[in-house]
Amino acid sequence: MSHDLFEAAKAAMAKAYAPYSKFPVGAALRTEDGRVFTGANIEVASYPEGWCAETTALGHYIMGGGGKIVEIAVLAERMAKCSPCGGCRQRLAEFCRPGTKLYLCDNAGVAETVTMGEMLPYGFRGDILK
Ligand code: THU
Repeated sequence: MSHDLFEAAKAAMAKAYAPYSKFPVGAALRTEDGRVFTGANIEVASYPEGWCAETTALGHYIMGGGGKIVEIAVLAERMAKCSPCGGCRQRLAEFCRPGTKLYLCDNAGVAETVTMGEMLPYGFRGDILK
């Protein structure tokens, strides 16, 4: 099952708009009911205004109805096992559980599986804000 999520991330990575870093990234996430949402990084000439593949995927996920995320795959063309940046870890954690699987990929497929809890231990939780 994880390989098809890798393939979805790979297809998303092909759509990256990364003319400045030349570091294309793709992300794909699957919800409990089997929907898959993907994203690529999108850069702009004012560098800090660009955003990551994971964030694009989360935008598609929210607009597609949200739900429980059960697994996520991330792939970068030029780096094996590229892991989500700090900001994306926080964004992903908003919609995941500590046990949600995160697949760190290389160009052949899933290279390592970790959990969101391992990726963001002691992350800020917004419970008190509700
Ligand atoms: N990037 C992602 O899309 N996801 C990550 O997990 C790490 C970094 C992007 C942001 C920027 O477009 C490029 O990679 C180089 O930092």
